[in-house]
Amino acid sequence: MIRHLLAAISALVLVVGPSVAVAENIVPEPRSYEKRNGVFTILTTTKITHYPELRSLAKYLAEFLPLPVREYNGEAGGDIVLRLNKNLADEEYRLSIGEQGIVIEGGAYGGAFNGVETLLQLLPAKVYSGAMALPVMVGCCEVEDAPRFAYRGFMLDVSRTWMTAGEVKRFIAVMAHHKINKLHFHLTDDEGWRVEILSHPELAEVGGFRGGDSPVAAIYGKWGERYGGYYTQQELRDIVDYAAVRNVEIIPEIDLPGHSRDLAKVMPGVLCNYEPTLTASAGYDRRNVLCAAKESNYTLLKDILGEIAAIFPSRYIHIGGDEVAFSQWLECPDCKALMAARGMKDGEELQALFMGRLAEIVEGLGKVPCVWNEAVAGGRFTRTSQVYGWESIAAARKAAADGYQTVVMPGQYFYFDMRQSQREDGHIWAAIFDARKCYSFDFTEQGFTADEMRNVQGVEASFFSEAYLAHRGMEPDYLYYMTYPRICSLSEIGWCGDSRSWDDFYGRLTAGHYSRLAAMDVDFRLFPPKVSYADGVLTASADDHSRLYYTVVGEDGTEHEYKGPITTDKPQLYAFRSRFGGAVSPEAGVEARFRMAQPAVTVTSSIPSSTRYPYTNAASYDGRIAYTGRTCKLDDWILYTFDEPVRCRRMEIRTGYIQLRRCIFEQGYVEVSEDGETFRRIGDLESGIGVIDNPDYAIKAVRIVSTKEGNGEAFVTLQSPLVYPLLQ
Ligand code: ACM
Ligand code: ZN
Repeated sequence: MIRHLLAAISALVLVVGPSVAVAENIVPEPRSYEKRNGVFTILTTTKITHYPELRSLAKYLAEFLPLPVREYNGEAGGDIVLRLNKNLADEEYRLSIGEQGIVIEGGAYGGAFNGVETLLQLLPAKVYSGAMALPVMVGCCEVEDAPRFAYRGFMLDVSRTWMTAGEVKRFIAVMAHHKINKLHFHLTDDEGWRVEILSHPELAEVGGFRGGDSPVAAIYGKWGERYGGYYTQQELRDIVDYAAVRNVEIIPEIDLPGHSRDLAKVMPGVLCNYEPTLTASAGYDRRNVLCAAKESNYTLLKDILGEIAAIFPSRYIHIGGDEVAFSQWLECPDCKALMAARGMKDGEELQALFMGRLAEIVEGLGKVPCVWNEAVAGGRFTRTSQVYGWESIAAARKAAADGYQTVVMPGQYFYFDMRQSQREDGHIWAAIFDARKCYSFDFTEQGFTADEMRNVQGVEASFFSEAYLAHRGMEPDYLYYMTYPRICSLSEIGWCGDSRSWDDFYGRLTAGHYSRLAAMDVDFRLFPPKVSYADGVLTASADDHSRLYYTVVGEDGTEHEYKGPITTDKPQLYAFRSRFGGAVSPEAGVEARFRMAQPAVTVTSSIPSSTRYPYTNAASYDGRIAYTGRTCKLDDWILYTFDEPVRCRRMEIRTGYIQLRRCIFEQGYVEVSEDGETFRRIGDLESGIGVIDNPDYAIKAVRIVSTKEGNGEAFVTLQSPLVYPLLQ
C-alpha cells in the first residue's frame, strides 16, 4: 500500500518538481527499517549540521548533496544532523527521517558514516553521479542498524597489475558505499614492489618496474616493455586519509618470506646461499624466498616494516606467510645449519621461526601481525595475531578453533579473480562462482561452531590481479566486472551474518542497487539471460530491469534488441546478453551455440615434451595442459595435425595459460596447411595466441613458430586447440 502511495506521490512530483526517493532496496539490508508517513524535502537551504568530530563526514555528505555545512549548535530543525551517541556501538547507527529533518547518530565516526551511506541509498540513484538536483524528497523512516562483523574486508593486489593512486581511491569509494570497512592492500609480490621505502629507495625505484631494463622479468603481459609504478609515502598517506573519511582502514601487506622474487631481484643477497641450476629457465633465477638464516634479512625487514608502520595508522600489518617454497631453504647450507642447531625437522618449523621473528618486529612497532593461514598451520605462531583463512574452509575454521582472530575468505567463495561461469574470463583453481554462490556462504552450514565464531572477526574477498593486466583498457572494466555484484554479496554477508535470503537480496539488487552501481559508473556483471527453445521458438529473458539483446552468427555482429520470442529452425545461431548502463552479462544461448568441436589431433614439436605434462594432454580436450621440456628457442615450432581436415568458423592455438601467462611463445607466427605438407603463413601470434578466423578451407594442420629466443621461463605451456564449429 505504502509502496503504491509513494509511487503515486512520485508520479505527481514528476509534474510538480522535486523528485521522491523510494525508501527500499537497501544493500546491505539494515537490521530494522520502519517506514513512517510523510516526507522530508531537502531544499537548497537545508544545512548539514554536525558534531565537531564529524566535520569530514559532513563534508563527505556534501559531495553528494550540495548543501552548506555547519557545526551543530543544538538547533537542528529543518536540517540534516550528524551526531554521536555514546550509547551505541562504534559502527552502530540510527537514522531518523521525519518531516522536520534528518538525524543520523552513530556510536563513533564509523557508525555515523554507515548512517550517511544508508541515507544516500534512500535518495534517487543519481545522487552517486554527483548530479543530484535539489529539492529532493525522502520518505520518512526510522532505521536502527549495526553490522554483524567488525571486519568486512577486500584485498586488492596492485603488484601484478599496477593501479594508480587515483584508481585505488575510486575503488575505495565504491566499496565504502557497500559498508566494506577494510582494504587489505597487497603492496608487494613476485612481480612488483609498490611502496616507497626511504631507507632503501631502490626497492620501489627498481622493483616497482618490470620488463625493459629492469632486473625483474616482464610477466602477465607487456612483454619487452618497462611496466609498473609505485606509490610515494605521501601518496599512501593521502590514500589513507581518503579511506578514513569513508570509514575504510587500510591494512598494508608486505608478503614475506615467499612471494619475494621482486625484492630478491633488487637485492639478490636476500636469497639462500647456493647456486641454483638455471639452464631450464634460460639463466633467470626464479627463487622467491628470503633466506631464514641471514641476520641481515631481519635488519632489512625491520627497516621496511618500520616505515610501513609509520605510513599506515592501522593497528595491523600483514606480513604474508603464504605459499613458501621450503625447497629453497632445504637446499641452503645456512638454513640447514640453522635447522640442525635448533633441532628442526622441516621447512614448516623454519617458517615458524622466520614468521615469529617478523611478528616480534611488528609487535615491537606497536602493531598486530596479520598472516595467511599457512603461517599458523603448526599452531606455534603468536596468538595475538590476525589470521586470514584463504586455502579452505577447514583452514579458516582451524585458525579460529586454535584461538586466532580469524578473517574468513576461502577461495571458492571469496576469490573474485575466479571465473563467474565456464565461458567467462578468470582463474578457475579455487572454483567457478558468481555472486549468488558467494551469497550462499553460511557459517553455520559450513560447520563453524559457536566457539569458532567467537574468534571470527569477519569476512574478506580478494582480487589477485594476474589476469587484470591483459584486460586493461577493455570494456567493461575487468576489475569491476569481476568484483560487482560479488562485493554486494560480500557486503551483506559481512553486515547481516547468516540470516539472509537470496530471493530478497536479488530483488533489492536488481530493482534498486543496479541503478546505484550504474550511477557510480561501475561496469558490473549482470547474470546471464535464461534461454529456451521449443517448438521452433527461441525465448530469452533477463531480470526485469535490464535490456536484452542478441546477435546472430553470420551477421556483422550487430546487436538487436530482443522484443519477444524468435521463430527459427536455427537456434544455434543466436546469442543473447543483457545490459544495464555499462553493465553487461555474459552471452547465453542454446547449448549448441557454445559447443566446441573436438577433432582428433596429434601434437608434436621441435621441443621435447616434459615427462610430467606430455603433449598428449594438449590433444585430450579435457582441460589438461602440456609443458615443453625446456624454454623455447628461435625457430622452435609446435604442430597440431588433425586426423581429418577440419571445417570451422574459428580456431585458436594457445600457448600460455591463465596461471602461467609468461609461458608462451612471446613472438611468433601461425601457419596453416590444407594437406599436412605445404604450409602458408597467415598471421602473427598475439600474447602467445594464434587465431584463424572464418577460414573458407579445411584445416589439416596448424603450426606455430617462435621468432624469439626464450621467454624467461623454464617451459612453454600448450593446450588443446579451441575449435569453434560451423553453425549452419
Ligand atoms: C594467496 O592466495 N596466496 C593468499
Ligand atoms: Zn637460506
